[in-house]
Amino acid sequence: MILFFTPHQGLEESMSRFYIASIVLALEYLHDNSIAFRDLKPENVLIDAQGYVKLGDFGFAKMVETGGRTYTFCGTPGYVAPENVMGRGYNHSVDWWTLGVLMYVLLTARQPFTSPKTQDPMEVMRRIVDERWPIKYPPYMSEEATDLISKLLERKPVKRIGMLQGKARDIKQHPWFAGFDWEGLAARRIDPPRKPKESDSAKRKSELAEAHRGEPKEPPPATAQEMAEWDRMFRDF
Ligand SMILES: *[C@@H]1O[C@H](CO)[C@@H](O)[C@H](O)[C@H]1NC(C)=O
Repeated sequence: MILFFTPHQGLEESMSRFYIASIVLALEYLHDNSIAFRDLKPENVLIDAQGYVKLGDFGFAKMVETGGRTYTFCGTPGYVAPENVMGRGYNHSVDWWTLGVLMYVLLTARQPFTSPKTQDPMEVMRRIVDERWPIKYPPYMSEEATDLISKLLERKPVKRIGMLQGKARDIKQHPWFAGFDWEGLAARRIDPPRKPKESDSAKRKSELAEAHRGEPKEPPPATAQEMAEWDRMFRDF
């Protein structure tokens, strides 16, 4: 995703809503198929020619069966969930946490646990797991957005929105999405807030290529067969 906002403030909430909602649908779909995406961040959110969202880079995606857990430490330092840092096993709960980080980044153009002064990954991860470390919400952020982000950035996975009885539905029914046309989005009937220009997609490609260079990936990149499988799953998305 090209972060097309000013340096000090993020996207307008009404615009962000479309992108966050699209990712909610994608994650819900993956989770219903027992897949944890595990590496949600702006670089992996792609915008197609019509302006709709696609998740890209399934290098970290993994099948996690109900009741199963996975232990690999992976993700991106500012985005990793506390249960991933702790190394005691986790499941798709990490995706709802990273959605909270991504939403924060979209609305503020800053990361919740990283600052220009504090980029040391160990310190960032200490903040992520520390229940007492307060996340700062800027005053221009709406009450509803602040509430939703704080429920996604709930450090205990069992209490995190998305992991409760209503699962993804709890997120869709959160007041931040009041009046949002979820069915229209799933059917690609609503107008994306922004359609990429040709020049953007050329830029996007080179940014992606850059991001991949020299970045060790674990598990190893997907096979052609897995890629075909994901293409099939995302055909309608
Ligand atoms: C995922 O892990 C949480 C605890 O972190 C657990 O409550 C939940 O049942 C697990 N979900 C699945 C589908 O295994």
